[in-house]
Amino acid sequence: MPVSIENIVSLCKRRGFVYPGSEIYGGLANSWDYGPLGVELKNNIKQMWWKRFVHRRDDMVGIDAALVMNTKVWEASGHLKEFKDPLVECKKCHKRFRADDLKKDNCPDCGEKNAFDEAKDFNLMLKTHLGPMEDSASAVYFRPETAQSMFVDFKNVVSTTRKTLPFGIAQIGKAFRNEITPGNFIFRTREFEQMEIEYFIREDDWQKYFEHWRKEMMSWMEDIGIDLKYIHELEVPAESRAHYSKRTIDFEYDFPFGKKELYGLAYRTDFDLRSHDKFSGENLKYKDQQTNEEFWPHVIEPTWGVDRSVLAVLCSAYSEEGERKFLKLTPQLAPYKAAVFPLMANKDEIVDTAQKIYKDLRKEFMVAWDDRGNVGKRYYSQDEIGTPYCITIDYQTLEDKTVTVRDRDTARQERIAVGDLVDYISKRIS
Ligand code: GAP
Repeated sequence: MPVSIENIVSLCKRRGFVYPGSEIYGGLANSWDYGPLGVELKNNIKQMWWKRFVHRRDDMVGIDAALVMNTKVWEASGHLKEFKDPLVECKKCHKRFRADDLKKDNCPDCGEKNAFDEAKDFNLMLKTHLGPMEDSASAVYFRPETAQSMFVDFKNVVSTTRKTLPFGIAQIGKAFRNEITPGNFIFRTREFEQMEIEYFIREDDWQKYFEHWRKEMMSWMEDIGIDLKYIHELEVPAESRAHYSKRTIDFEYDFPFGKKELYGLAYRTDFDLRSHDKFSGENLKYKDQQTNEEFWPHVIEPTWGVDRSVLAVLCSAYSEEGERKFLKLTPQLAPYKAAVFPLMANKDEIVDTAQKIYKDLRKEFMVAWDDRGNVGKRYYSQDEIGTPYCITIDYQTLEDKTVTVRDRDTARQERIAVGDLVDYISKRIS
């Protein structure tokens, strides 16, 4: 990858994509805040995902569930027992690491040789207390995946939507894991967002739908501007798979710090519905209306990390051509769809006309206004944050109601009638 993570972190901080969390108090390890441009980029990713996988499909519905769930959920799902990573502690500096992240038995922090004893299991569930008492009865957990609410709400969704198999439940939301070694900027954090689908099917169909979702995930990555030559499919071996999975593919991406998991696709069998049925005592079987047959549907689960999407999109978009630095973001994802410049900031007629165009465009899209410095500097500034179109209002605009539109990627300019601008941009961002 041509871009370094330092370049990305520095751009994110400088231009307001991502800031260190709690910075004025010295920060909070590995917590990050999305700034004004970051929240737009992240929302655009989530909206594109929701539109594509929920609104445009007949076989999908969405939910938005609570982050803290009844503790029995985590007993049934197996998370309280199984959701753990191997932890080792350096004998000398007492720093803790994930054993499977270490290549040697030397401490990466203090250099101590043969620094570690046998690994211990460390549960990643993030605990908190609900209510005024901090006793064991009030202890609850933040969800470590959005997935479980799709199983817990399965019965309600079926009875309220009358969906028939195959169909999916989708959700976007926060998840929390007490990661042993968070790091690499927003790649691994303890609080993050997921976009997940639980796709309910008949057991016999699992291979067909696994393949369907494999292709859908590939096509999504292409559409958000990730070059597929940097994506690698890893068939996860049985011993490394989550306790519920019979088959898992990790989609790994060549991040600047190495090849790492971007998304995952798993065949969860009927493990979750069957288990929640047992633990809750509720009948979570699906009844086929034609045959009256009752069974627990099987599940294909495609899962996407939102923050890892943001990072992969930024790394993929980062471009340098000579002096020019620009983010080649797909226009749908760009925070600003266009920027409007008056050629001169001290000519009232030009500024007034530009302001009117800016205000009209703002009714339709996120649009930036810039009247500082010269036009070259303004282009530079918009290129760096990935604004696909820069619109300049000049003397000719006053005469013939046309403007120049400059394309971010080619730097080519063309003259467009003011009345055609909304159409011109709309066509390119949908
Ligand atoms: N429901 C299945 C599940 O949660 P996972 O592979 O553990 O599977 C799914 O997580 C996705 O969530 C990952 O592919 C990754 O994109 C994202 N993710 C997981 N842990 C993360 C963390 N600590 N920080 C940021 N993103 C994370």
